[in-house]
Amino acid sequence: MPYPMQGLPRQVSIYEVGPRDGLQNESAVVPVEVKAEFIERLADAGHKIIEATSFVHPTWVPQLADADELLARLRRKSGVRYPVLVPNERGLGRALDRGVDEIAIFASATETFAAKNLNRGLESQFDMFEPVVARALESGVRVRAYVSMCFGDPWEGPTPVSQVVQVGERLLGLGCYQLSLGDTIGVGTPGHVTALIEAFRSPERLAVHFHDTYGQALGNTLAALQAGVTTIDASTGGIGGCPYAESATGNLATEDLVWMLRGLGIETGLDLGKLVSTSVWLAELLGRPSPSRVVQALSKG
Ligand code: HMG
Ligand code: MG
Repeated sequence: MPYPMQGLPRQVSIYEVGPRDGLQNESAVVPVEVKAEFIERLADAGHKIIEATSFVHPTWVPQLADADELLARLRRKSGVRYPVLVPNERGLGRALDRGVDEIAIFASATETFAAKNLNRGLESQFDMFEPVVARALESGVRVRAYVSMCFGDPWEGPTPVSQVVQVGERLLGLGCYQLSLGDTIGVGTPGHVTALIEAFRSPERLAVHFHDTYGQALGNTLAALQAGVTTIDASTGGIGGCPYAESATGNLATEDLVWMLRGLGIETGLDLGKLVSTSVWLAELLGRPSPSRVVQALSKG
């Protein structure tokens, strides 16, 4: 029996990042056929948007070096979108060759993370992204943008709200349909989330992307929903992290999110049982239990 709260949306889109954000950070090499099965199981559980992989430099993220092969073998389900991460024109070319129709670029709100993750500066990252967005849009490809380190950065400390807004509005101005606010190292708290969202011109074009390092992801999600955001990034099983920010741990687990939304009476279209059994299956293959509290609770036998 749901217990709704006032001021929340009736429907929420979950943007699933497990196959990309989750698997980019695994020390074990996950075979391409396991990745394909993972994505197919997520679609079967009702996911409508699954970020499938990254067309980044293969030596920077060897875990996803099989992106071309993965897309070649993936059995797509109709009505499901399979965006991929793309940093530059080389990555876009590879994605277009695979028939991709939706990409996500990923900028940094801080100078240090731009250097570590992109080998660029806060300003020069735009020299890389601008031609990617222009060419993608010309080719009829939808573009989402991330901005990372929105709340704090391991090297620079707390990130000023104005700095995030400056980078984020500029990305939206390029023609990206949505901006996902990344708490890469999970340090944000709910009041900070509200302040950041309110500092943007259009909350309806925002999504949130919380890593759960400090256990704040669900509380932060509720704050984001109250501030008008209706797209939440999550990773089935709570896997995730960023190889270029050691303090980044797993993403908000999709199962934990679905549990909370279901309790609030908010529709997601996802089958929680199928998500949990997918996470248990993947955890066995990865050789460690899922960090999701809901997966742990529901899989106790
Ligand atoms: P770079 O070394 O500056 O690249 O890396 P470059 O432009 O100087 O090119 C060097 C060589 O690499 C060239 O080859 C390029 O063709 C090749 P050469 O001409 O010398 O033979 N190259 C490529 N090859 C294949 N695919 C490509 C590609 N690009 C260049 N795409 C670059 C710059 C951006 C490529 C590199 O820094 C990179 O790949 N970074 C990605 C790091 C990454 O994936 N991090 C994790 C994702 S971000 C994240 O997780 C955060 C997020 O979840 C949100 C949050 O949590 O906050 C999204
Ligand atoms: Mg992330």
